[in-house]
Amino acid sequence: MTSYLETGVEIAREAGLLLANCFERRVGFELKGEFDLVTEADRASEKLIVERLRSRFPTHGIVAEEGSRHESPSEYRWYVDPLDGTTNFAHGFPAFSVTLALEQAGELIAGVTFDPLRSEMFTAERGSGAYLNSRRIRVSKAARLGDALLATGFPSRKRHLNVNVHFYYQLAMFTHGVRRAGSAALDLAYVACGRLEGFWEFGLNPWDQAAGMLLVGEAGGKVSDMRGGPARVAGPHLLVDNGLIHQEILGLFGEVFAGRYRIPLPEIGAAS
Ligand code: IPD
Ligand code: CA
Ligand code: CA
Repeated sequence: MTSYLETGVEIAREAGLLLANCFERRVGFELKGEFDLVTEADRASEKLIVERLRSRFPTHGIVAEEGSRHESPSEYRWYVDPLDGTTNFAHGFPAFSVTLALEQAGELIAGVTFDPLRSEMFTAERGSGAYLNSRRIRVSKAARLGDALLATGFPSRKRHLNVNVHFYYQLAMFTHGVRRAGSAALDLAYVACGRLEGFWEFGLNPWDQAAGMLLVGEAGGKVSDMRGGPARVAGPHLLVDNGLIHQEILGLFGEVFAGRYRIPLPEIGAAS
């Protein structure tokens, strides 16, 4: 493990314990904007992470969700989501994480996602595989979409512009189900360790997805956009899966992008 990943792991653990402590004490939340929550814990976790990164790697750039930006000519840049799953956190729903990733000259080289409630540390380095609590993990071997459990997410902002409900509906028809647990970083980590066969979402930010993209790739999975093109950490949309069901998912997505539904939405009157 390089010192970059080691430091990322140390910091994620420390920030995760801070989050777990706030969660136990039910530290209150305030509105960041319409439907968009930010808690004291988001800010405290970000402060801790950014202080640690700055003291350890003073020349590295940092892009963190709650506003910390450290522009730098260095080829290294950290993406930081100090609390992924804020809505869950604020409601006492136990599914959230802290996630960090390091990019070098535009390429992701290290990623960490930590779930402090389950003490699960997911790590990956480019070319060295993906791990859960130091044990090697790999994507699932399910070869048919019909045998797959998937996950997706919906943004808290501008929901009326998000078309994902169309994709959600079609994929829910042809799989064992589509989960929407509220922490994209954990969803991605779960694809990497085979608990889920795939995950997709529109409009994630780099700090949500950077570590998870590396985790899935290093666990032997497929990382692309929703049309099968190369995935970019800046979006606009992401699909990850175990590789075996990739073409089947892209086929369904292609139909939805073209406005065709294999199974049309039921009429509301059918619910009587
Ligand atoms: C959110 C979570 C959620 C995803 C949203 C993200 P936050 O991050 O990852 O699963 O669906 O798009 O914004 O706001 O809890 O850090
Ligand atoms: Ca997030
Ligand atoms: Ca966040």
